[in-house]
Amino acid sequence: MNPSVIDFINTSRDRYLEELTQYIAIPSVSALPEHKDDMRRCAEWTAEQLKTIGLENVRVIDTPGHPVVYADWLNAPGAPTVLFYGHYDVQPVDPVELWTSPPFEATVRDNELFARGATDDKGQLFMHIKALEAHLRQNGTLPINARVIFEGEEEIGSPNLDAFIREHRDELACDVVLISDSGMFDKGVPSICYGLRGLSYFQIDLRGTASDLHSGSFGGAVANPGFVLAQMLSQMKDRGGHVKIPGFYDDVRQLTEREREEFKRLPFNEKQYRKSLGVPKLHGESGYSTLERTWGRPTFEVNGLLSGFTGEGAKTVIPATAMAKISMRLVPNQDPDKIADLFEAYVKKVAPRSVELKVTRMHGGKPWMTELDNAYVQAAARAIELGFGKAPVYTREGGSIPVVATFQSELNAPTVLFGLGRPDENAHAPNEKLDLDHFFGGILASAYLYEEIAKTRG
Ligand code: BES
Ligand code: MN
Ligand code: MN
Repeated sequence: MNPSVIDFINTSRDRYLEELTQYIAIPSVSALPEHKDDMRRCAEWTAEQLKTIGLENVRVIDTPGHPVVYADWLNAPGAPTVLFYGHYDVQPVDPVELWTSPPFEATVRDNELFARGATDDKGQLFMHIKALEAHLRQNGTLPINARVIFEGEEEIGSPNLDAFIREHRDELACDVVLISDSGMFDKGVPSICYGLRGLSYFQIDLRGTASDLHSGSFGGAVANPGFVLAQMLSQMKDRGGHVKIPGFYDDVRQLTEREREEFKRLPFNEKQYRKSLGVPKLHGESGYSTLERTWGRPTFEVNGLLSGFTGEGAKTVIPATAMAKISMRLVPNQDPDKIADLFEAYVKKVAPRSVELKVTRMHGGKPWMTELDNAYVQAAARAIELGFGKAPVYTREGGSIPVVATFQSELNAPTVLFGLGRPDENAHAPNEKLDLDHFFGGILASAYLYEEIAKTRG
């Protein structure tokens, strides 16, 4: 690589941090209606950056929800076209009182930058903007053709993105999709992620009576929705963590012996992991290790529960309603729609007639997996070695990026997950942060990656 690109990256660190601080200061929380204007402002800020670094056809495109930012640079005839995807929206910050510094004021402590969006995904997306900038500034050109789409609705399940991709299929045509929105195995252990879990999300509402009731006068006469909900949930999984929805495991791709061996070789310290989570004992599906459970096995989780009196003190009441938010993480080859049907049928079966049941399907996403011998995956492995001085390990992830499956089916393009996060970066939680070694190293590795991709044919 042109040494002046490397120099430029190494001498621009302060400016990178200043710019990222500005980016982070825009509270682009997609889930909250009061941030609607901030979402547009953030999309426009992103677009402005893309213009400044020299990308072309920069546009902020409206959708029924938050805008998509598009840009391209297609002046490398014969070279592969890379579609860069990322999301400029972030998760809500609550509980805000648990943050050490204000979530939208980026603050550096001990070589870590604390802020909402620091790692998920503004910091990681910005890394590519800066790597593209370095090539364009120092070489006047890119080794690849680039198309960029940054969306503003990933954290709410990308409800408008599939339609957007179908509508703009020609403008998104590419050889490979490149995404930095996942993690490394650990600090100093660069990795390439070859699998993501899918998702199927539900809300269930139970209603017993028309209104809350005196639990003395009416206790014994009617079912209590809070209790009924607990009984229903208890029928979803057995004590060994095995999901009891009939047919749930039918399409599960089993972990291969090879994978199980590879996972065992990873530098995973279970005791340290347990301690870092503050949990008395780890728990999950019996017969599988922690990495196998989180990466390669499906789960059933309760994400929220609500019923009755939850204030201080005691209140003798039979609640009229109960509500649960529920989600299942899925693995290849489970299909979210099929799983949703199975769950809905089973919930209806286990619900007693003493309550009214309402089942609402929320978002879903397909699981994803790529072949390790894909030429672009191998290009990424070389770039990581050049940028971080170490060959990557191969991992899967428990999280979901639903659009990856859509890129495969609609654009027929493989995806490379070039994630730079650290597992302890508190994504979605208070005190989200970004490791600055990973950030600066990631800009360099990305700059290498574009040159490695330029040498690659799929
Ligand atoms: N960046 C994450 C996905 C992720 C997390 C990938 C951890 C790899 C490791 C993304 O922003 C996210 O949070 N996705 C949601 C998807 C959902 C809202 C449809 C998730 O996984 O919960
Ligand atoms: Mn993300
Ligand atoms: Mn996220």
